[in-house]
Amino acid sequence: MGLKILGIETSCDETAIGVVEDGVQLRSNIIASQVALHSQHGGVVPEVASRQHIRDMVPALEASLSESGLGLEDLDLISVTYGPGLAGSLITGLNTAKALAFSVGIPLVGVNHLEGHIYASWLVPGRPSPAEDPGFPLACLVASGGHTDLILMEGHGVYKLVGRTRDDAAGEAFDKAARILGLGFPGGPEIQRVSEAALGEGVPALPRAWMGDSLDFSFSGVKTALLHLAQERDVYPQESSRLEPLEFRRLVAEMAASFQSSVVDVIVVKLLKMAKQYGAKALLLGGGVTANAMLRREINARSPLPVIMPPPILCTDNGAMIACCAYYQYQRGEEFGMDLDIDPSLPLG
Ligand code: KG4
Ligand code: ZN
Repeated sequence: MGLKILGIETSCDETAIGVVEDGVQLRSNIIASQVALHSQHGGVVPEVASRQHIRDMVPALEASLSESGLGLEDLDLISVTYGPGLAGSLITGLNTAKALAFSVGIPLVGVNHLEGHIYASWLVPGRPSPAEDPGFPLACLVASGGHTDLILMEGHGVYKLVGRTRDDAAGEAFDKAARILGLGFPGGPEIQRVSEAALGEGVPALPRAWMGDSLDFSFSGVKTALLHLAQERDVYPQESSRLEPLEFRRLVAEMAASFQSSVVDVIVVKLLKMAKQYGAKALLLGGGVTANAMLRREINARSPLPVIMPPPILCTDNGAMIACCAYYQYQRGEEFGMDLDIDPSLPLG
């Protein structure tokens, strides 16, 4: 029997618990989402999130163990996200993990949430077979609600941060754009959905912030440009718009598509540039924004290098990626004591 690791993830608004065997085999992946709770506020409310994690924790744990066919006594290791993320949310996951590790008498491994997103690609079936494994270095994009990072992965556990957003994260920009267009939360999937209905006529292309030669990003300009365009076209504010519903929906679809193209274009160009600059063997994607269908399509179409990406369900926050990452940390001898604390701004690389 292989090494069975439980992974707990509560850095934002999902109480997510997975079980992974030997770092590759997904035995369970339970995600208790708080989307319905937060959507009425148009974004995650930290205080609401931390209280909901407490309610969802035990049911998620029971469901995850049940799906994996294992009992607590069958586990070999407990892993947990200890940062970066919302303090009040992280603490529930960490305290649960400590209690479990202590009571079962097994080791505890603390995981960096961003490193977890990278390791989602090591879970079967995200990874190419060993024969096709491109090796290191990998040019990694971690794009989520809180981060847009370009990370050079030189080996297991060896990272160099080479590009990051100077203002909004890509996911945050999607969420704000959706709010401007009167769409639901989270904004990324909504922008993607309505963009599919766009005819691609009549809406000017939105600006792209290239930031000179830098590998850094900036998404606040495109968001402001979208706001101005929405005001000009009487789409924003929605309450006072005099557009016919059909015309309103047509304009929203076109502006959403234009916004999505702008964000995707900049991300793809910078990721490819980074890969070339650092001699990467392949590209690797992780984080909620990399579930975006257009981003995945464009990267596959434009990359001369192999592209490794998890299925969309493993791009957004989950516990399995944390367990997978912990497997590699444990192999290198990393173990954490009961004095492990949360670190809401934990860096990577
Ligand atoms: O990684 P994640 O689940 O949580 C964080 O660590 O933040 O990422 C959540 C973010 C949200 O901003 C959401 O709008 C975005 O990922 N997202 C998407 C898509 N699915 C989720 N953005 C664009 N297209 C999508 N299909
Ligand atoms: Zn995340």
